[in-house]
Amino acid sequence: MREIIQGDCLEFLPDISDESFQSVITDPPYCNVLDIGWDRQWKKYNEYLDWSIDWIDQCMRILKSDGLFFIFGQLGKREHIFIHLMSRLCTNYQFHDLIIWDRAVGYNERRDSFTPAYEMILVLHKSDNVKFNKDAVREPYDAETIKQYLRDKRYKDRDLRLRHLEAGKFSTNILRVPSLKGSSKEKCDHPSQKPIELIAKLVLCSTDPGDAVLDPFFGSGTVGVVCETLNRQWLGIEIDPGYVQVAQRRIELVRQTLFSQPQPAAAESVERPARL
Ligand SMILES: C[S@@+](CC[C@H](N)C(=O)[O-])C[C@H]1O[C@@H](n2cnc3c(N)ncnc32)[C@H](O)[C@@H]1O
Repeated sequence: MREIIQGDCLEFLPDISDESFQSVITDPPYCNVLDIGWDRQWKKYNEYLDWSIDWIDQCMRILKSDGLFFIFGQLGKREHIFIHLMSRLCTNYQFHDLIIWDRAVGYNERRDSFTPAYEMILVLHKSDNVKFNKDAVREPYDAETIKQYLRDKRYKDRDLRLRHLEAGKFSTNILRVPSLKGSSKEKCDHPSQKPIELIAKLVLCSTDPGDAVLDPFFGSGTVGVVCETLNRQWLGIEIDPGYVQVAQRRIELVRQTLFSQPQPAAAESVERPARL
């Protein structure tokens, strides 16, 4: 399954079978943050919260019992709406984690407080027995740190210590990935496109090759781009036909690039292509 459905996700989600996706990764509308039709559908915050609960209920039904559900929140001044939503969700469902996406560069929207520079990603689960690949999202040590750690006399087996250090450290739940600038190479025509590197971390930690990922607010198709590259199945739903075209173009480009590369010898080789 590698498909984009064009339409309202609330119409299509009820048709998807129970427990059929290993992971749901999605970045829904924020509610009156962007000056654009799809983000201004609600007159009151409570309407947005009720609407959110409707699609989230569906996604929880569709999620496998050992799966993870990642929901992006808003940025800056309007982030309190997401806090209300998180409070409702944590009453109905089981909290798994709260990831902070450190955007590295702030978003200069206010003079009366610090410049907002992070976004929250709420993670929910259905059971305590979740699939989580901690090794898949290690962060490399730099050469100087490795050199310093190797001087530590407590470790007698230097080769073993070096292998351990070269594997990198476990990632914290603060993911520092620069947000996309207008001049970024991967930037396309979508106002809230997420970086491939960030989405790749979520896909890698929550799925194995061949597993299926759902994104009911597909936008420019970043989840699809990552899943194609990492050999996961995926389904995207997007209401705007223009964004569907943008996503189709991006995914086609990834397919062409992968197709023109020499085939890897083992399935694992496609897991971490240099491009990510
Ligand atoms: C925040 S953007 C997602 C951006 C995406 N993460 C990316 O990297 O491009 C939210 C998307 O949800 C879409 N959308 C809004 N309401 C929708 C609905 N009811 N069903 C499906 N898509 C919807 C919007 O058109 C928009 O592209």
